[in-house]
Amino acid sequence: MLALSPELRSRLATPLQIGTVTLNSRVFQSPLAGVTDLVFRRLVRRYAPDSMMYTEMVSASGLHYLKTLPRIMEVDANEHPISIQLFDCRPDFLAEAAIKAVAEGADTVDINMGCPVNKITKNGGGSSLLRDVPTAAAIVRTVSAAVSVPVTVKTRLGWSDQEINILDFAKAMEDAGAAMITIHARTRAQGFNGAARWEWIGRVKQHLRIPVIANGDIFSVEAAVQCLEQTGADGVMCSRGTMGYPFLVGEIDHFLKTGQQRPAPTVIERLQCARDHLIALWEYKGERGIRQARKHLTWYAKGFAAAAELRSQLCRIETVAGGLALLDEAIERLRNLAAAP
Ligand SMILES: Cc1cc2nc3c(=O)[nH]c(=O)nc-3n(C[C@H](O)[C@H](O)[C@H](O)COP(=O)(O)O)c2cc1C
Repeated sequence: MLALSPELRSRLATPLQIGTVTLNSRVFQSPLAGVTDLVFRRLVRRYAPDSMMYTEMVSASGLHYLKTLPRIMEVDANEHPISIQLFDCRPDFLAEAAIKAVAEGADTVDINMGCPVNKITKNGGGSSLLRDVPTAAAIVRTVSAAVSVPVTVKTRLGWSDQEINILDFAKAMEDAGAAMITIHARTRAQGFNGAARWEWIGRVKQHLRIPVIANGDIFSVEAAVQCLEQTGADGVMCSRGTMGYPFLVGEIDHFLKTGQQRPAPTVIERLQCARDHLIALWEYKGERGIRQARKHLTWYAKGFAAAAELRSQLCRIETVAGGLALLDEAIERLRNLAAAP
């Protein structure tokens, strides 16, 4: 049985202070482009009401030229704690965007310094900032001066194995005024391949005063505990493990607070959650929501006989009624199977 060591329990018992913001959870839902919209965050928050969530990353340049706020920046009126994540390489555009983020309700503003995608890095944003420490520091200084909420950074270990500079980079961000740093323990060159190298997070933690949040390969309560033990990090951030499984952040948070494991949702409960997700996406985004729901629904449909066939149908749904019919049939079949002698 999984147990929480007394040392870890006492270390995590106090609230987490990010500058002026106090959090009652040390488990974070990461920003995931195309996933962590308002609808998804509501589902995660059902099970993890105290956890900090992030919007999908928002382009500060895009925002500068737009007249209206993009949908991905919308947060619920009572949605807290919430961070709006921005990306760009221009400190002035980022400061301007941060002011809009705070007006929208952001408790913290996070700067993306880890995205590996070419389209972003070739314009000087995301992980390319790991190679341009003066600009990264100028961003943190300028944005911090523009807003009263804490400014945080999410980044990687470095550009490549030959350029792992996270120790100096993280210190430079702290010196520039960052209130917290989240480290995805892979390099840009790794993308999402290979195991996350948590040992680097432990080294950064020893080097900094601001909170350090561990990210990469937190797919279970066990992994979260192991990572916290190994790194001494102040918290963990869940990412791919939440796709089709919005229960994860809450499961980890519950265990860290109580030492008890929440029973995992049954397959039927997961499919019922998928149902809620589909309806909410439809209500919030209409037709576009149906198209976006396809990938989410296939992520939920795992771990039972005939799941592959269901996935292949779910990824082609055209209407909310069609999607619900498929999910309801699957739920009915699973119920009958469970009732069969
Ligand atoms: C589909 C997808 C979208 C992502 N979008 C963002 C993003 O908008 N901002 C960001 O900082 N990281 C983004 N990430 C990176 C994750 O937040 C996280 O750092 C990474 O997946 C490592 O954690 P994991 O190994 O637990 O998945 C994205 C990752 C995926 C798979």
